[in-house]
Amino acid sequence: MPSLYSSNMNEAVYGVNFDRIIEQAPKQVHSYLNAELARMLELATPNYVVLEVGCGSGRVLAPLSQYCRYVVGIDNQAVQISASAEKISRKENVEVVLADASIMPFNDSIFDLSLIPYNLLAGLRYQTNVVLEEMVRVTKQNGIIAGSVYSEDALEAQLEHYENLGFNDAIVSSDYICAANAEGETIFVERFTPDKLRALLTGFDFRRLKVEELDPISYFFFAVKSSP
Ligand SMILES: C[S@@+](CC[C@H](N)C(=O)[O-])C[C@H]1O[C@@H](n2cnc3c(N)ncnc32)[C@H](O)[C@@H]1O
Repeated sequence: MPSLYSSNMNEAVYGVNFDRIIEQAPKQVHSYLNAELARMLELATPNYVVLEVGCGSGRVLAPLSQYCRYVVGIDNQAVQISASAEKISRKENVEVVLADASIMPFNDSIFDLSLIPYNLLAGLRYQTNVVLEEMVRVTKQNGIIAGSVYSEDALEAQLEHYENLGFNDAIVSSDYICAANAEGETIFVERFTPDKLRALLTGFDFRRLKVEELDPISYFFFAVKSSP
């Protein structure tokens, strides 16, 4: 059966070294990413083994590795794995793995902290639940799962960001953007209210779930995996 989806984020955006995507991001997005990094580093502790889902070109891996025992980044795009591998080449406590987050090549319950930064959760579309299930599976009991998404107030920043990347033709709804570039490639990215984010995360095996306003265009969430 042919794919139901014309093209997706992986081909259209994620196949480009993420350093270049970030370089072209508007100021508001840079502020969001800086706030997010600071919040993630607050969660890190020196004995932690940490997973970053969708590590891209390694923006988060190197800073994290200074605060944690061991850091593993996974990404399903070879171009990102090469870029991040180069960035971390001198660090002994970081590794990157080419793998899809919907079937992670890890044993159960091995990470103290599993992160999904930079709105990836809002761009996974039909994979969202399975990726969250995988994150819960590989995280230790009482370990933390955390990440961030664009808020309902991010539309302007998102449109500018995607236009800078050549995605000019956008359909905007109250909580998502679907935009196409000249090649007909499309991206589909959601925005979240706190209630929508809580609704997505409710039903997973969490003991505690917290949604915080991270900056004017984003929310940060963290949840603790239940013990049996
Ligand atoms: C928004 S970027 C974030 C990059 C990095 N975490 C950062 O914050 O700078 C999302 C990354 O997730 C990767 N990605 C998307 N879907 C994925 C999947 N199903 N499995 C693994 N990686 C995925 C993309 O290739 C991309 O590098």
